[in-house]
Amino acid sequence: MKIILTGIQSSGKPHLGNYFGAIKPVIDFSKGQDKTILFIADIHSLTSIKDAQTRRDNIYSALATFLSLGFDFKKNILFKQSDVTEVCELQFYLSCITPYSMLTGAHSFKDKADNLADVNLGLFTYPVLMAADILMYDADLVPVGKDQKQHLEMTRDIATKFNNQYGKVMTIPDGFYVENQMIVPGIDGRKMSKSYNNYIDPFDTEKNIKKTVNRIVTNSCGVNDTKDYTTCNVFNIYSLFANNVEKQEMIDKYQKGIMYSEAKNILFEKIMDEFKTSREEYNKIISDKNYLDFVLKIGKEKAQEISSKKINLVRNILGF
Ligand code: ADP
Ligand code: TRP
Repeated sequence: MKIILTGIQSSGKPHLGNYFGAIKPVIDFSKGQDKTILFIADIHSLTSIKDAQTRRDNIYSALATFLSLGFDFKKNILFKQSDVTEVCELQFYLSCITPYSMLTGAHSFKDKADNLADVNLGLFTYPVLMAADILMYDADLVPVGKDQKQHLEMTRDIATKFNNQYGKVMTIPDGFYVENQMIVPGIDGRKMSKSYNNYIDPFDTEKNIKKTVNRIVTNSCGVNDTKDYTTCNVFNIYSLFANNVEKQEMIDKYQKGIMYSEAKNILFEKIMDEFKTSREEYNKIISDKNYLDFVLKIGKEKAQEISSKKINLVRNILGF
C-alpha cells in the first residue's frame, strides 16, 4: 500500500479555484485503495498570516470543507501540521544538509527577492519545512499543483543528500502533478485568487453567491447576438461542472444569442446544485467546534504514531 500525502495551506476560506485545483483531486485520491494523509499547513501559513484568530478560523473552515466534501478521516489521516511540532525539529536537521544556494533558487523566495524587506526567514526556508512534512511520513506520492513541482524536487534532493550521508533513512517521494490541471478563472477572467478578490466561495450564503455570479465580467454583445463562449468567463466557469451534454446545450444557447443574465442564472443554479449536500454538511459541521476538535484529536493521534517513530529514528541516527 502506498502512502499518499499532501498539505493545503489554510490561507482563507477555500474558493472554486482551490476546490478544482487542489481539494477535489486529493479527495478523489482518498477514495481509492491507498492511505491518504491530508494536513492543514497552518505553520506554513505564518509566512503570510499574522493574526491568531484568522488562523484559527481558517483551520476550522479548511477542516469543515474537507469533511463536507467527503474526506473520510476514519479511513485516512486528517490533521493539522502544528499538532506535530516534531516537524519543526526535523526541519532544522534537514536544513543543516540543505545548501543555501538551493533555497535562493526557490520560486517562493525568488518572486519576492526584489524586495528583500518583505522576505522573512520563514519564507526563505519554506521548502525545507515542506520537505520535513513529506519525509516525516515516508510519503511515496505527493499530489500537488504544478506550481509546487520545484518544492517537490527540492524534497527529493534533500532526502537523497540525507540518505547519502546517513544510509537509507528517507523515502524518496514522487510528485503527482494533476494532469491538465486547469487554472480556474475568477469573475474578472484573471486566475481565481483570494489576492485578486475575484473568487466564488461555494460555501457562502445563497444571496452572496448570486451577487458574485452576477458580477462576472462579460463583453458588451447585444441581446440577440451570437456570443463567443470560448472567451466567456461565465461559460468557462460553468464548464468546470457541466457534463458534455450540458456543455453542448450551453454552447447552442451562446450560438443562438443567450442573454448573459440567463447564462449567469444557469451557472448560479449549477453551483447551488453541485454543492447542495456539501453546503448543508459544511454549515452543520462549522458550527460544531466540539466535533471539529474531535476530528483533529483523532488526526493528531494517528499522525503522532507515525511521526514519533520517525523522529526517534532520525535522532538516533544523528547521535542525539
Ligand atoms: P490563492 O491564490 O487564492 O491564495 P492558494 O495559493 O492558497 O490560493 O492555493 C491553494 C491551492 O489551490 C494550491 O494548490 C493552488 O495550486 C490551488 N489553486 C489556487 N487558485 C487556483 C485556481 N484559480 N485554479 C486552480 N488551482 C488553484
Ligand atoms: N506548499 C504547499 C502549497 O502552498 C502546501 C504544503 C505544505 C504541502 N507542506 C506540504 C503540499 C507537503 C504537499 C506536501 O500548496
